[in-house]
Amino acid sequence: MDARAELNIDLRQMVMAIETAVSLVGMNDTNHGKQVGYIASQLGHQLGYSDPDIQYLFELGLLHDCGVSTEQMHSTLVNHFDWKDAHIHCEIGYRLLKDFEPLARFAIPIFHHHTPWNELGKLDISARDAGMANLIFLADRIDVTAVPHYKTDILLARDDIVHTIDNYTGTYFDLAYVSAFHELKISEAFWIALDDRHITRYTWDMGKVTSNTPLSLPQLRQLSLIMSYIVDQKSPFTAQHSVRVADLAKYLASQYGLTSEQCEKIEIAGLLHDLGKLHMPDNILEKPGPVDDIERSIMNQHSYETYEILRHIEGLNEVVLWAAYHHEGINGGGYPFHPSAPELSVEARLIAVADVFQALVQDRPYRKGVPLPKVLDIIEKMASMGKLDRDIVNLAKQHSSERFKIAKGEDPLHNQNYIDLFPER
Ligand SMILES: [Fe+2]
Ligand SMILES: [Fe+2]
Ligand SMILES: [Fe+2]
Repeated sequence: MDARAELNIDLRQMVMAIETAVSLVGMNDTNHGKQVGYIASQLGHQLGYSDPDIQYLFELGLLHDCGVSTEQMHSTLVNHFDWKDAHIHCEIGYRLLKDFEPLARFAIPIFHHHTPWNELGKLDISARDAGMANLIFLADRIDVTAVPHYKTDILLARDDIVHTIDNYTGTYFDLAYVSAFHELKISEAFWIALDDRHITRYTWDMGKVTSNTPLSLPQLRQLSLIMSYIVDQKSPFTAQHSVRVADLAKYLASQYGLTSEQCEKIEIAGLLHDLGKLHMPDNILEKPGPVDDIERSIMNQHSYETYEILRHIEGLNEVVLWAAYHHEGINGGGYPFHPSAPELSVEARLIAVADVFQALVQDRPYRKGVPLPKVLDIIEKMASMGKLDRDIVNLAKQHSSERFKIAKGEDPLHNQNYIDLFPER
């Protein structure tokens, strides 16, 4: 079967999902990527760019901070005009996208979206990439300067924002781009559109524009892997968690007798299942002790957040539910949707078992990785209580040392997913 015809996922909708996921890192400030996309595309419009270039700038704005996974890095970037370690997230973003053909054209501008204009000219990159990078740098710093005013006095603060940007003209930003900003700032509509309510609606509408780039199943898998890196690198304790859950779920699915296409889709759901953790505060994810009731109530929102990030993607419906149901119990005792047992598909049950298994073997801030006999004991108890599927738990218990190795990332046969983005560190 032609996987492309079967899934038919449009790249544009995946780009929107990446932005939604990455923006969650901002906690109460979840529109930075959308605002930068909007400002950059308006600058492009003011400069007389073609529609494809304006669309490119919008997508580049959505994606520019895909290298930011922690709350701490996000807040440093939005609270300081200049930061000596800003290049770190630029480099991560570049490495994430450079080998994925449908998004590789964004990689170099992302690498340089904090490089001053007067340095860009000395680099061996194309004039187009340099220009796009600098437009995003400008849009990004306009947004950061404007954020404190959106809700109140944005129309009064315009001149101050322009004044701040002017200080960096010719050094950080190209004069022609700043001149375009001077024209734009006259329009009240430009500023009002940046309000949370309006920017969300604007982005939603832009998301309906098709990129006419349908993704094949292997491409969707590769993009899901990129998204899994973004969430897994949020904390050293969850490093590789999604990749290993995907490996294990796919393997269990094949042992269960599902078709290879089903197995591949399960792998994708495994890669995406914890995306909603990007909205979890760093201090809860890394708390070196048991979480309290309030922290748990925040943690328990993450699988709904996964659903919210992905649910708009046409054609991905069932995969989204498999991912979003990973904390649901057969007995209805999980969270957050409480589907009935018949509504809980075998695919979702496979991911749930793989998720518990992998999380147990991995070190957590409050305990070391659990040894195999204890892992088997725990999943057995969970099956007896109706939390996990009995047949799948039995399957996981067969050849359990092999399952253990896959979950740990120690089985070279099932270790092809992982590529170290920073092998030299
Ligand atoms: Fe940014
Ligand atoms: Fe989870
Ligand atoms: Fe998980």
